[in-house]
Amino acid sequence: MSQHFQHDVLVIGSGAAGLTLALTLPSHLKIAVLSKGELSQGSTFWAQGGVAAVLDDTDTVESHVEDTLVAGAGLCREDAVKFTVEHSREAIQWLIEQGVPFTRDHEPGREDGSFEFHLTREGGHSHRRIIHAADATGAAIFNALLEQARQRPNIELLSQRVAVDLITEQKLGMDGQRCLGAYVLDRSTGEVDTFSARFTVLASGGASKVYLYTSNPDGNSGDGIAMAWRAGCRVGNLEFNQFHPTCLYHPQAKSFLITEALRGEGALLRLPNGERFMPRFHTLGELAPRDVVARAIDHEMKRLGIDYVYLDISHKPAEFIREHFPTVYERCLDFGIDITCEPIPVVPAAHYTCGGVLVDSQGRTDVPNLYAIGETTFTGLHGANRMASNSLLECFVYARSAAADILAELPKAQTLVALPCWDASQVTDSDEDVIIAHNWDELRRFMWDYVGIVRTNKRLARAQHRVRLLLDEIDEFYSNYKVSRDLIELRNLAQVAELIILSAMQRHESRGLHYTLDYPDLLPEARDTILAPSTYCG
Ligand code: FUM
Repeated sequence: MSQHFQHDVLVIGSGAAGLTLALTLPSHLKIAVLSKGELSQGSTFWAQGGVAAVLDDTDTVESHVEDTLVAGAGLCREDAVKFTVEHSREAIQWLIEQGVPFTRDHEPGREDGSFEFHLTREGGHSHRRIIHAADATGAAIFNALLEQARQRPNIELLSQRVAVDLITEQKLGMDGQRCLGAYVLDRSTGEVDTFSARFTVLASGGASKVYLYTSNPDGNSGDGIAMAWRAGCRVGNLEFNQFHPTCLYHPQAKSFLITEALRGEGALLRLPNGERFMPRFHTLGELAPRDVVARAIDHEMKRLGIDYVYLDISHKPAEFIREHFPTVYERCLDFGIDITCEPIPVVPAAHYTCGGVLVDSQGRTDVPNLYAIGETTFTGLHGANRMASNSLLECFVYARSAAADILAELPKAQTLVALPCWDASQVTDSDEDVIIAHNWDELRRFMWDYVGIVRTNKRLARAQHRVRLLLDEIDEFYSNYKVSRDLIELRNLAQVAELIILSAMQRHESRGLHYTLDYPDLLPEARDTILAPSTYCG
């Protein structure tokens, strides 16, 4: 039997953004936090690098803003960048209060007023401003926030729950546009439950799983973006998919990132003959913005017909490497690579979705009572290319401002309404799950080949044709068979893939992460690509 739940706030996603929002709201509110699998399944847990913030007295808000604007290639919204950076110090302070064990500097209590935590550097940053917990910052943050959430009786942490779709007044044929909650598959019962909530928050991460090779965990299937789109929200700048330059290349290593902080601490990119190549592409060498580094690697791999390049930090003392990069060191050793004395084979892989659901500085979407935070969103912070470690910062700053807004809106929020149950009367058990697996694979493969690091009009047109066929097939499957996690994710991924392709087709220039051979130049005016469900003709 399906169940009906009622909460003040329903949070879809249990990563940095979702947990921060839940913890920031007062304890008299009844909050549900949903995770598709185990609570730790999202990207946060796997983040290695850290959180960018203005913490050292020699650094300034202006400098962090300027670096972000430069990396964003003219497309950042300056107000969003300022808003985020100006709130960075208090966000970090809040994390420290939650017990996040950031790595300390070797010289605590320095008299020059400089910061007591170790700050590292990453691409595009002109200062050391990345606060981190060795090279497992995401896990340290996640564990601390989860521990806090577990101590709060008003926060229900529900794992194995996959949101199927948002419930809105419009979808129910009622007057108004409000979001009323969501239908959610409980994987342990196979039933779709009804969650009604005064406020619903999408914090379900990005969509890099749309690509064959990705640094992301399996769940990053663009669920929040697809659900918001189907609920009537606009999306923006989805053509900007960031490819992380350095993922471990090894047949048995799935999605293992080699943190950019290695390059921040002096690691060099080399060809198989030992030659450095980044100085040929950018004056900042290995610390050039990510789009430049990923394209340079892609270019060299294609030019020389090689499967990977090398990242080499072996010139640093072995003790320094083991202390600063214990996760990377251990993981590489598992695959027989000792990074203290040999280079690491690396390739670029899809890493971050810079665009997403349009929100304001309070995380409000176009649909009343529906908020979105974190990688699901398009706030204007990242522009055409996200600067390293700005994304975790965005999670904390926007989760906190969305929580404040929900609190302010609460007195106006209407009481919960009785919602209809999920209608499963027309569907049966699927007897052909092979179709889902096949379509997953096909989608991710053509997105990698046609909508990847280097694009052309022809490749995009091909991808558009293929995605339409898939969407029709998935729709038919969805109408006839019971939903499963794989089907829900495939439906969302295919939807987001189409939005990525449509966005890429609208951009007739090469800017930041969007590079096309047909329009290699930059247009004089930087414009966002905004898609609206009301004008969509898919
Ligand atoms: O390289 C990294 O550790 C990734 C950082 C980021 O994507 O912000």
